[in-house]
Formats: sequence, structure tokens, C-alpha cells
Amino acid sequence: EKAGYEHFMLKEIHEQATSVHDTFSGKLSELDGSVNLDELDISNEEIRNIERIEIIACGTSLNAGLVGKYLFENLAGIHTDVDIGSEFRYSNPIMDENVLSIAITQSGETADTLAAIRSCRSYDCNTIAITNVVGSSITRDANSVLYTRAGPEIGVAATKTFTAQLIMLYVLAIKFARAKGIMDINYAKDMLVNLKRIPGQIQKILNHREEIRECAEMFAQKRDYFFVGRHLNYPIALEGALKLKEISYIHAEGFAGGELKHGPLALIEDGTPVVAIATKGHVYEKILSNIKEIKAREARVIAVANIDDTEIEKYVDWVLRVPATDELLSPLLSTVVLQLLAYYTALARGCSIDKPKNLAKSVTVE
Ligand code: M6R
Repeated sequence: EKAGYEHFMLKEIHEQATSVHDTFSGKLSELDGSVNLDELDISNEEIRNIERIEIIACGTSLNAGLVGKYLFENLAGIHTDVDIGSEFRYSNPIMDENVLSIAITQSGETADTLAAIRSCRSYDCNTIAITNVVGSSITRDANSVLYTRAGPEIGVAATKTFTAQLIMLYVLAIKFARAKGIMDINYAKDMLVNLKRIPGQIQKILNHREEIRECAEMFAQKRDYFFVGRHLNYPIALEGALKLKEISYIHAEGFAGGELKHGPLALIEDGTPVVAIATKGHVYEKILSNIKEIKAREARVIAVANIDDTEIEKYVDWVLRVPATDELLSPLLSTVVLQLLAYYTALARGCSIDKPKNLAKSVTVE
């Protein structure tokens, strides 16, 4: 059932070219820049009345939610908060019927996320569940269910379900932006065209996996690993660190580039690998200056950068390449590189990749 792959994780990383496509399939019409989400039980008028979005999730799904915040705020102009399921359920949130709650859970069974979304009912707010499992518990607790179509994920490390969740968040954010009439139609069309190009671009990254493997092997015996990114790439740095620590047992942390000076720089020393997500965008120059700060501490910098970026090579030790896309869509591509980096690091260390110690695929107890 591993279809010739050594591990389910590697198989599932490779399936992303298809699962991303399957998740948006039938939903995008680039001719008029609209998206079609029939399963969404919210009228356009209700969308216009949303004052705040509250995203609730755990683990990798939480990192998808953090990307979602940038999308809903940048595209749809809706203030968005993201909360950890286990924190939200024991807090006293300020909620009312103008808040839209979105639970993200690939399994649909995460106890804390379920409890949190159930508690939202008492505030009369509309709820949406984004899940990969048809008929899972969360589907009974939300007003609308948006299914990602990643197919079954066996590896404990979430990979294809994460990129599928991201796709659903893009589709939803574009839907809201168009319903509010604040997204330029040409921009919407372009974004949909770019979304459709993502599966082919993921395939390109997969085709170059040996370069990522070489890099992973170089640093596989290190004790610590850091990941930095800014803006949308900040949650991708968190996700890169989560993936690495979970399957390779290397101590890994993700930071926002601007936070380095506020503490993390103290940990960076001679030879420490630091992955910097430096794809082109409005914070590119800013991440470059972070890279210089890191290099000044003799760290080894691995940059995730665009194929045509020739400048970056001057400042870093390794460059892992991703095709160029719309700035907002770039997490879909950078993530695949970080998944492969984690996978090949764990492989070089001889770890139990599909079943890491102490972790379960779905966390049904708190
Ligand atoms: O099923 P869920 O998406 O609710 O699971 C949440 C987390 O347990 C999960 O994303 C976990 O962090 C991943 N296995 C990490 O790869």
C-alpha cells in the first residue's frame, strides 16, 4: 500500500500534486474570478456581516490556521484570530453572533478542537469545519463542513492534509473577498490561475528531491535546528520546525524573523543550521537582513528561495529552490521543501518515520 515508497510519509508528500488539485477541483472559475462553495451554509449578506473570524485548531492544523489569518485579513479584510483548541476551551472568549468560527482538523476527532467548537454554539455564531474525514465527529458540530480531498493519511506527520487545508483556506478567503466586493476581479482571476498551477509546481519540487536530501544529510546530526520566516512564511517556519522535531527528534524551533533580536539570537552559534524562508515578496529585503544577522553568528543558513533568485546565493550556505508564484500562495510550495527536509533528516538518523515515538495520529483525549 506504500506504492513502492519506503514510508507512507514520502508517499503522502508525493501525493500532494494530486491532493491539492482534488481539493480545489470544481471550485474555481478563473473566467470570472469566482469560487464555488455550495457546501457553505452562509449567504453573501451574512458574509458581509462577519465582524471577526475565530480559527480554532491544534498542531499542524493550527499552523494552517495561522496562514489563514493572513489570507482572511489581506484578501477579505476580516479581522481574524487564531486560537489553540486546548486554550480556547478554557478561556473566556469575547464572542457573539457576528463572529464566524472555523475549526480546522484533518481527523475531525481532535478532542480539544471539538470541545472548543462546541462551546462556540452557546454564542450563536456560525461555525465551519474544515476536515479530511467524511462523517468525522466535527461534521456533526459545525453548521457547514468543507471537506479537503487529500485521501487517507497514514503517516503520523501531517503533510498532504496540511496543503489541502491551505487550499481550502485560499478558496474560502477568495469567496469572502468576492462576496464583499473588495477583491479586484482581475486579481481574483490571476490568483485562481496561479492556484491551478500549484500542482505542477509541487511536482517540480518533488522532481528535485535529491538536492533536498543532500542538504538534509549534511545537517542530520545537528542537535538544534531553527526556522525563520516573516509574514505568511512565519507559520511555515513553525510548521517546518514541527515536522522536523516530530519525526527526527532534533530540537527545532520556528521564529518570526523580526523576533530574532528579542531572544532567539542567543541560541545561534557556530554551525547551527537555520532555515530561512526567503521567497520573493514584500518582506524579502527584511528576511535578507535577518539572514545577515544570523550569518554574523557563524550559523549555517539554508534558504528556501525562488528559482530565479541569484542574489540570495551571496548570503547563504545552501539554497533550496521553489518556483515563483503569487506571494500569498508561496506557502503551498515552501512547505513541500520543508516536509522533504524533515523526511530525509529523519531517514538519515534511522528514525521510525511513520510512527514517531510518543505521538498518535489523532488525539482524541485532552
Ligand atoms: O486531526 P487534527 O488536524 O485535528 O490533528 C491536530 C494535530 O494533532 C496534528 O496536526 C499534529 O500536530 C500532526 N500530526 C503533526 O504533524
